[in-house]
Amino acid sequence: MVVELVLPDLRYADSWIEAVREFGGTTMHGSGLWDLTADHASVETLAARVPVLLEQSDHATALPEGRVHSDYWWMVEDEEFVGYLAIRHQLTDLLLQEGGHIGYAVRPSRRGRGHATRALTLALGRARELGLERVLLTCEEGNTASARTIERNGGVWEDSRRGRRRYWIDLASDE
Ligand SMILES: CC(C)(COP(=O)(O)OP(=O)(O)OC[C@H]1O[C@@H](n2cnc3c(N)ncnc32)[C@H](O)[C@@H]1OP(=O)(O)O)[C@@H](O)C(=O)NCCC(=O)NCCS
Repeated sequence: MVVELVLPDLRYADSWIEAVREFGGTTMHGSGLWDLTADHASVETLAARVPVLLEQSDHATALPEGRVHSDYWWMVEDEEFVGYLAIRHQLTDLLLQEGGHIGYAVRPSRRGRGHATRALTLALGRARELGLERVLLTCEEGNTASARTIERNGGVWEDSRRGRRRYWIDLASDE
């Protein structure tokens, strides 16, 4: 089976808990769970967080200053959680400079299997459905795996700012 994008769901709790422990406190890009520590990986925590993640995509949801509506997706392979991916519906100035539209992370033990590359391909289809005509992706200088993931998906390097490589992917011309 190849990786799919699914909405966050408690049915993946067991592998999600293992994954959070694997991340071991490192940033879980694209998770929307920046404040979550490995110690708090539990079914109860996930049950509380899933609805909050899901409502972030709803433009009726009021968000704190500086946050934008976002779709949170989970990468799943064979019913197992393998990674996170977020699609931000718009850019703030900070996202334009640094963060971009799409963020992702694959759990450490599942890296190097093509999951991020495939998940980003799927995410571009979702971004197109949201009406985005082009998306910005960024990665730290030296993050070869992320740079390759973006380049494999047609990312065109624009420049580097504050130590991050910035790429655009045109969605309008690639139906
Ligand atoms: C970046 C990341 C998501 C890549 O996930 P992945 O599923 O391992 O990526 P893929 O297997 O699809 O590989 C993508 C490309 O990177 C290459 N790659 C994978 N791991 C690599 C590594 N450690 N060093 C160099 N290249 C690597 C692969 O060979 C592939 O390139 P290719 O198509 O030219 O062969 C993953 O390393 C990760 O979660 N890192 C931490 C979080 C992060 O950096 N997120 C991105 C924020 S900008």
